[in-house]
Amino acid sequence: MKKVIYRHQISRLFGISLALLLLFSSQLFGQGDPVKGKQLFNTNCAACHHLERKMTGPALGGVEEKRDKEWLYKWIKNSAGLIKSGDADAVAIFEEWNQVPMTAFPLLSDQDIDDILAYTSNPPAPPKEETVVEEEVVEESGLPNEIILGALIIIFAMLLMMLAMVSKVLRRIASANGVEVAEQEGLSGIWQAFVKNQFLVLVSVIFLLLASAYFAFGYLMQIGIDQGYEPIQPIHYSHKIHAGDNEIDCKFCHSSARVSKSAGIPSLNVCMNCHENISEYNGAEDLANGYTKEFYTGEIQKLYDAVGWDPIDRAYTGETKPVEWVRIHNLPDFVYFNHSQHVTVAGIECQTCHGPVEEMEIMSQHSSLTMGWCVNCHRETEVKVKDNGYYEKIHEELSKKYGVEKLTAAQMGGLECGKCHY
Ligand code: HEC
Ligand code: HEC
Ligand code: HEC
Ligand code: HEC
Ligand code: HEC
Ligand code: HEC
Repeated sequence: MKKVIYRHQISRLFGISLALLLLFSSQLFGQGDPVKGKQLFNTNCAACHHLERKMTGPALGGVEEKRDKEWLYKWIKNSAGLIKSGDADAVAIFEEWNQVPMTAFPLLSDQDIDDILAYTSNPPAPPKEETVVEEEVVEESGLPNEIILGALIIIFAMLLMMLAMVSKVLRRIASANGVEVAEQEGLSGIWQAFVKNQFLVLVSVIFLLLASAYFAFGYLMQIGIDQGYEPIQPIHYSHKIHAGDNEIDCKFCHSSARVSKSAGIPSLNVCMNCHENISEYNGAEDLANGYTKEFYTGEIQKLYDAVGWDPIDRAYTGETKPVEWVRIHNLPDFVYFNHSQHVTVAGIECQTCHGPVEEMEIMSQHSSLTMGWCVNCHRETEVKVKDNGYYEKIHEELSKKYGVEKLTAAQMGGLECGKCHY
């Protein structure tokens, strides 16, 4: 009788929590997510719209209060269609904006638009906007889910094991004191047999300890290695389009790589050398990568906003907002690395270390940048001493010392700690 009541209560509890869950998630769906919305807005709309100020199109802050949702869905997916249908509001706003057409977004779903509207009605507070990029960074370097899961499983298993041992000891004490302990049936019977087998228990404990050490070691070894790191940049700048399709030399933009320690990121003035005249993207029509011409043109507009260039008047407005590129390659402070030494003196191609940059739509870190990576290459790469007065003499002496014709960077001193560490 008791058991039945108990079950009844459990199922009721289950029902209640299910209902709560449904309520919560339906609320999430109905309202849209302002964070996703912000991203969608920045990629699709920010070229023409601002929340507070007029740009190519009207300010969109709080537009949801002015128009109804169905109208907005129709307008955003295809404003030209809505205007043609004779909708009075659509025609009015089109006339008000001197018949400047708005891009159609047939690919945005209703949910996407809900997200965008959640953002335009309720943008995250300004100081938070600044940190969005950093948040991504933190997310990337956080604990991967598999490791958390692995650790949880191990901890859980250890707890079970400890519980079993405690209960065994208790049982022993009990029987020593002459108290009767009932044996359990079924699954727990197997468990009892397992716990009784000292050897099995020992083996499992050792296994669990090794497994946890493995996980911990694996995690520690990858701290600080950001291979593949690919942050979202403030302007979607494509190396594929610049260095690949348009064959612009790396050194046009990273000119200091040849002559100094760092390669440097070009200032926006360098961009404007070309972009005073290139205001829209007219490259390959079939964009297999999923980006659109409008998107690329919008990104060039962001460059204009940043340097304060008005492409219609062809003049600088003086209103600038600096672009902060997220740094991707970054050695720790205690390591000394010099670009000109590798690019100019050793004649190594950028791609040897940075990978096929001319194919990268989005820049990412190609090599691990670990000490092992530097040292391996120093062991393997011969130093080019031809036509290099400085090296010819050293080369002669050293090749005599090592008894070889060719010298590697390592034999030239490239493994000395002090060369790479301050
Ligand atoms: C190429 C520029 C351009 C882009 C990109 C653009 N818009 Fe527009 N938008 C306009 C213009 C211009 C108008 C004014 C009406 C007209 O002339 O067509 C407008 C009007 C609107 C209106 C009506 C505002 C009102 O007061 O009723 C909404 C809503 C809107 N846009 C939303 C969006 C959203 C959301 C996006 C991104 C998904 C977007 N727009 C992208 C140019 C653009
Ligand atoms: C038209 C200018 C331009 C050209 C040409 C160019 N880059 Fe860049 N490069 C940039 C800008 C802007 C960034 C910063 C944005 C980014 O990371 O995508 C950058 C970033 C990088 C980075 C990452 C910097 C970091 O933060 O660690 C590397 C590596 C790089 N470029 C290598 C190359 C190589 C190699 C080539 C030639 C194949 C090349 N670039 C050609 C403009 C240029
Ligand atoms: C040597 C000339 C040149 C320089 C310098 C240059 N660009 Fe470009 N840029 C181009 C060309 C060419 C295109 C492609 C236009 C096309 O195909 O219609 C382009 C396209 C773009 C696009 C749209 C495609 C994309 O990459 O997203 C953006 C954004 C852009 N440039 C930003 C920049 C920025 C930022 C800089 C400075 C770091 C810069 N450009 C420097 C020539 C240049
Ligand atoms: C021997 C390997 C190697 C070669 C060759 C190389 N780089 Fe780098 N590059 C690096 C390393 C390592 C870093 C990180 C440096 C740091 O954090 O101090 C880096 C960083 C960069 C950065 C980030 C900003 C900076 O100045 O640190 C850019 C941009 C860059 N490289 C461009 C280039 C270009 C362009 C070339 C070819 C002309 C090139 N690199 C050749 C290894 C290399
Ligand atoms: C792709 C091969 C390659 C990689 C990767 C590489 N190096 Fe080098 N490095 C060379 C070569 C070749 C030389 C010899 C250049 C010369 O002629 O002086 C050299 C020379 C040096 C020197 C000067 C050594 C001396 O004898 O004066 C330093 C310091 C150095 N590298 C640091 C680094 C660091 C730090 C890294 C990793 C972040 C690194 N290198 C990665 C190939 C490489
Ligand atoms: C060719 C360049 C180079 C030489 C030579 C070199 N190191 Fe390093 N070392 C590095 C780089 C790059 C890192 C940073 C690795 C990272 O961030 O993962 C590093 C990191 C370290 C660290 C920090 C631990 C770690 O792995 O992050 C120690 C300690 C260290 N080096 C000691 C030495 C000693 C001792 C020597 C001499 C036997 C030496 N290094 C020679 C490039 C070098």
